[in-house]
Amino acid sequence: MDFVLKDEYSYRGVTYCYVYQDINIDMMKDWQVRPSDVLIATYAKSGTTWMGEILYQMRRYHPEFDSQNLEDPRYILPYVEIGTDDDPIAVKCMDKMCSPRVIKTHLYYEFFKKQVEQDGLKVVFVLREPKDTLTSYYYHYCQRMFGFTGDFHQFFDLVRQDRLLGGNIFKMNRDWWQMRHLPNVHVVRYEEMKKDCPGVVRRLGEFLGIPLDQESIDQIVEMSKIENMRKLAVVGRIRDKDGVPLMDTQKFLRKGIVGDWKNHMMQDEVEFVDDCVRKYYDPVGLHFDL
Ligand code: A3P
Repeated sequence: MDFVLKDEYSYRGVTYCYVYQDINIDMMKDWQVRPSDVLIATYAKSGTTWMGEILYQMRRYHPEFDSQNLEDPRYILPYVEIGTDDDPIAVKCMDKMCSPRVIKTHLYYEFFKKQVEQDGLKVVFVLREPKDTLTSYYYHYCQRMFGFTGDFHQFFDLVRQDRLLGGNIFKMNRDWWQMRHLPNVHVVRYEEMKKDCPGVVRRLGEFLGIPLDQESIDQIVEMSKIENMRKLAVVGRIRDKDGVPLMDTQKFLRKGIVGDWKNHMMQDEVEFVDDCVRKYYDPVGLHFDL
């Protein structure tokens, strides 16, 4: 099956499509990093939206948060590489955001070198076991936004061809992981969020300098439970020109479990991922004890 995304193109060797209207990362040099900014960096389907919800709840406790200064809903949790309909270049819409800003990206580390290493941009890098990430990505491709109609194994051919939207999962995770020694880079694993979400929230508070007591931690954990996020319809905002949502929230916030790859992958697919893990992750000490 030769699947091609709508308006698929390659930018610096990475596959993008029509959703990414104008990938022009050179614009990033205009990003005036604020000390309270936080960037969520993930490979797609690693728990970005979950972390977004947690940090969005958490910002209410940030010393700089002003409850009178309400956000234009279009500027809530933007992606650097997508922006909004009015401002396809996210740095422009980021200027209109209130502090503390929570911004997301699926781009490789190399695009943020200056912001992270010189400007001290705080990064929360969320990492998920790659087989589960790829399983989740299959369902993402089947959303109206991307329109994939094949089965999981046909999707996996795209993984083998290194043609996945947003680039190579192993490179993405390896490169961000290698920055974990920096004091402004904080790594969180999806599996850890599943096992001990209150602990994750507490450590995030310490990392971001947000004072949280037990009651506020419990509230953040509760609000960001998958069943509550489904009620909030956090992902239905992107619509086509007729106003029909391109993403179905229920399919997006799908199972939210660890190990669903076992219901999808064949032995040769498992071996392909294991080979990539050996090649990319073993040399940098990135392991998944599942
Ligand atoms: P599944 O498809 O395996 O269910 P992203 O936001 O990076 O696109 O990741 C989406 C994945 O995170 C989906 O995985 C989704 O269900 C899961 N997810 C989102 N919110 C979650 C939550 N509160 N708890 C557990 N998993 C969650």
